[in-house]
Amino acid sequence: MPLRLAVLASGGGTNLQAVLDAIAAGSLDARVVLVAGNKEGAGALERARRAGVRAEWIPKGEDYDARLQALLEETAPDLVVLAGYLKLISPETVRRFRHRMVNIHPALLPAFGGQGMYGIHVHEAVLEYGAKVTGVTVHMVDEEFDHGQVVAQVTVPVLAGDDPKTLQERVLEVEHELYPRVLQWFAEGRVRVEGRRVVIAERADN
Ligand code: GRF
Repeated sequence: MPLRLAVLASGGGTNLQAVLDAIAAGSLDARVVLVAGNKEGAGALERARRAGVRAEWIPKGEDYDARLQALLEETAPDLVVLAGYLKLISPETVRRFRHRMVNIHPALLPAFGGQGMYGIHVHEAVLEYGAKVTGVTVHMVDEEFDHGQVVAQVTVPVLAGDDPKTLQERVLEVEHELYPRVLQWFAEGRVRVEGRRVVIAERADN
């Protein structure tokens, strides 16, 4: 049975697109059952609709968390996938999907993460600091921003001529390759959390 994914996204949705493309190509055994977000007209919601996937905009308001939770209960995902989702997940929803909710961050956590560290700001901070490598982190979602257990990390070199935009583009390319690959590990049931560590089991056919 394909892994049921709910994707939460506030932005352009290129990571969502990479997931949809991997599913279409047969390299990811999953189905996106919901795309939801807090930004009306977000590219991600548009991409979902174009792919025939249910897309829901949840407007700002006191009932935001309850509405998100209700959508997740209704669509019953195996895994909740944050892809450029610029909102903290409520503690109730974190508890409900503990170790079944992942995020992708465009740097090597715990460096260059936390509140306010999103989008181009991350790459600006990396260049300002003078770091020689950056990268991509996929991690479990917990009650704090960019804090849960690391599932996978890939490094990306910072080049002498980089500006925030060129660095962001190269990091994004890695994100698009890594996220579907990690989601396939979940589809194969190979991801296990042991305290602060995530262990990826060998493939059964190896
Ligand atoms: C990505 O860089 C992702 O790592 C971060 O937000 C950005 C989303 O980009 N969490 P997109 O909307 O998937 O194009």
